[in-house]
Amino acid sequence: MHDFLAVTPASSPAVTAVLPQPNFVQLHHEDQHAVRPELVAGLLAPQAFTSPKYLYDALGSRLFEAITELPEYYPTRTEAGIFKTHATAMAALQPANATLVDLGAGNCAKAASLFAAFAPACYVAVDISVEFLRQALGSLQAQHPRLPMLGVGMDFSSSLQLPPQAGNGPNVLFYPGSSIGNFTPAQALTFLRQARSACIGGGLLVGVDLLKPREVLEPAYDDALGVTSAFNRNLLPHLNQLVGSDFKLADWQHVALFNAAESRVEMHLQAARNVQVRWPGGERQFTEGERIHTESSYKWRAADFEQLLQTAGFARTQAWTDERGWFAVFWAAG
Ligand code: AVJ
Repeated sequence: MHDFLAVTPASSPAVTAVLPQPNFVQLHHEDQHAVRPELVAGLLAPQAFTSPKYLYDALGSRLFEAITELPEYYPTRTEAGIFKTHATAMAALQPANATLVDLGAGNCAKAASLFAAFAPACYVAVDISVEFLRQALGSLQAQHPRLPMLGVGMDFSSSLQLPPQAGNGPNVLFYPGSSIGNFTPAQALTFLRQARSACIGGGLLVGVDLLKPREVLEPAYDDALGVTSAFNRNLLPHLNQLVGSDFKLADWQHVALFNAAESRVEMHLQAARNVQVRWPGGERQFTEGERIHTESSYKWRAADFEQLLQTAGFARTQAWTDERGWFAVFWAAG
């Protein structure tokens, strides 16, 4: 008896050495030469703006993780509740042999929590924050050594073109967290059309934050602890790195407001005084109170989002929501 003890290494370095490492393809390079003109054009626009994707450098990704734990930031835990309550119903819609494609995977935790119910044949994690994704996927692969995994470093905000290494489906596109809210309605439609062609025979599972009173929306983007402020202001050192600019943190304040006419929460960086910002080959004067628009987070009515899916070509859709009707998860069959 107990002879298995003799042949089972309790914990040997050799065991960790043979753990599979996920394959990785990087389609996106934070190539300063491509990024600079785009950023500079935004900084020089009459209403200065930057794309929200620049919020996610390594520190920005960690600050966003912290945001999801704030009491005011309801989306993450509300969505998690929906997935928990309806996981079995969602699992029943999954095609056999599916490749689960996680768009904006971040720490990969949301997709990983569905592995048991969905039993995908393959997991593809896509994110713009490449180093963050590499770490997350490395430890996830150690926990699921038999599930083939692929990491893709890619910015899919303008074009959703999956690399051939992602396999030939059927793909289930997983786009949780209401990241789709960063798109304008027109951009969201373009994205959903691309998603539709990428998930034939599979489907799309997408989390959408719903319209609700300003009194709930604004604190979610301007928390008492100041984590969202840090997340927004962390853009400035990232810009300095990407553009070679000389933004100083002390000159800029976090502003979050609900724009009811556009049905979106906006984040801005507001100049605390007159500020001169310089970078190689350019400069801009910001007067006190002037803002840089750093993110829009659209809030949808469920019926309008359902209509958007139909317009994008998804004929069969269904949705689950929480008791308060604050958030919805849509399934759209591919
Ligand atoms: C990751 C885009 C869904 O808009 O709620 C959180 C980002 N910005 N707090 C959101 C964010 C400020 C978040 N998304």
